[in-house]
Order: sequence, then C-alpha cells, then structure tokens
Amino acid sequence: MNVFSKTIGCLISIPARARGMKFGKNSFIGPGYAIAPTLKGVLLGNNVIIGRNAWLDISRNTKGGRIIIGDGTQIGRNAVLSACKKISIGKKCLLSYNVTLADHDHAVFDPDISPMDAGITEGKEITIEDECFVGAHSFILKGVQLGKHSVVGANSVVTKSFPAHSVIAGSPAKLIRILKQKESYEERADGFRHHAGV
Ligand SMILES: CC(C)(COP(=O)(O)OP(=O)(O)OC[C@H]1O[C@@H](n2cnc3c(N)ncnc32)[C@H](O)[C@@H]1OP(=O)(O)O)[C@@H](O)C(=O)NCCC(=O)NCCS
Repeated sequence: MNVFSKTIGCLISIPARARGMKFGKNSFIGPGYAIAPTLKGVLLGNNVIIGRNAWLDISRNTKGGRIIIGDGTQIGRNAVLSACKKISIGKKCLLSYNVTLADHDHAVFDPDISPMDAGITEGKEITIEDECFVGAHSFILKGVQLGKHSVVGANSVVTKSFPAHSVIAGSPAKLIRILKQKESYEERADGFRHHAGV
C-alpha cells in the first residue's frame, strides 16, 4: 500500500478512532462505515481490512459488547457485525461481501409487546476461528462457533456450530463435507511442488 492510500485510510478512520475503535498496524476500514455513538470494544489486529459501508454495532442495550478481529483478516463491503456480547473472528479469515454476524436477536416472541418495544434477547457469543471463509450474503446467528478453516457457502444462514475444516452451505447451513488434510509427507511435498509451479 502506498503512502497516499495509507494517508487516506488514516483520515477515514479518524471518526472511528475518536469513538474508541482500536486499530492494529496497517489495519483499515473503508469509507461509508456507520459512525455509531461508540465503537469502544471494537478491536482490529494487524493487517485487517474492512470494506466500505460496514456497520460495526456495539449494542447500547447491554454493557461490554466486543468485536475482535484477528491479524490478516479481510471483510468485504457492506458487512454487519452486531454484538451485545462478543463476536470474535480469528486470523487470516476471509469474509466476502454482504455478510452479517449478530450475536443476539430482537425479542419478538411476546405477542403482547411490539418488536419496537421489546428490546433484544440475551446474546450468545459468536466465534469464527482462524482461516475461515464466509461466502457472500451469509448470515451467522448467535452462539455459532466455526472451527478453524471452515468454509461457508454463499447465501448461507448458519444456525449452529461446526468443527474445524467443515464445508457448510444452505439455509439452515448443513455440512457438505469435511476438508481432508494431507497427512503424509509425500502428499504435502506434492502440494508444495504444485504450488511452486515445479
Ligand atoms: C460452498 C462452496 C464453497 C462449495 O463448493 P464445492 O465444494 O465446489 O461444492 P459443490 O459445487 O460440489 O456442491 C456440493 C453440494 O453443495 C451444494 N451447494 C454448494 N454451494 C451451495 C450454497 N452456497 N448454498 C446451498 N447449497 C450449496 C450443491 O448444490 C451440492 O449439493 P448436492 O450434492 O445435493 O448436489 C461454494 O458452492 C460456494 O458457495 N462458494 C462461495 C461463493 C462466494 O461467496 N463467492 C464470493 C467470493 S468473494
């Protein structure tokens, strides 16, 4: 990234920093993000990029909501991350565009109280472990934990947790398969040769 882009990135982040958002080294948020009354509790690691028009929402109905994003993670445009408890995204994850994570719901189940008056439910933390991929237009609901290097298909609604290396998709998201790790040294070496174009 050149000096010009870095300067623009720094300028864009000023309102977020002023509201308490913490940026690691070389981390940026794109223009058009929602300038909430507080962004205290939002913590970006190093080399994090969040695309334009993000809404990072720390609920004012509860105390201590946090959004924590690990080193090297990138999030596409129009992301919504809404936390009343905690949303934690690991290192080197890639979240595509129009992705939403919300660790709570609106309390809409009492027929005598309108949704406008009902507030929100108690939150349940969302954890996305390192190296996960989340496809475009996906929604990750409260309490979900995705194990390391899981893959979420486009347009998925993820309602429950999945272990490491899961490939999931659909609404509700279901397991398609588990990624197989190359176990033998020979298989790994093959992969490296292929990667290196040898
Ligand atoms: C989930 C995904 C990674 C799986 O790819 P894949 O392993 O090649 O999967 P396949 O195409 O072999 O499909 C396997 C099964 O999952 C289903 N499936 C695949 N993607 C799906 C999706 N997004 N939603 C629902 N079902 C899906 C297929 O229909 C197929 O079902 P079947 O076995 O009953 O026929 C891919 O389909 C996907 O959604 N990628 C994300 C695209 C995206 O967000 N791009 C933006 C990039 S920035």
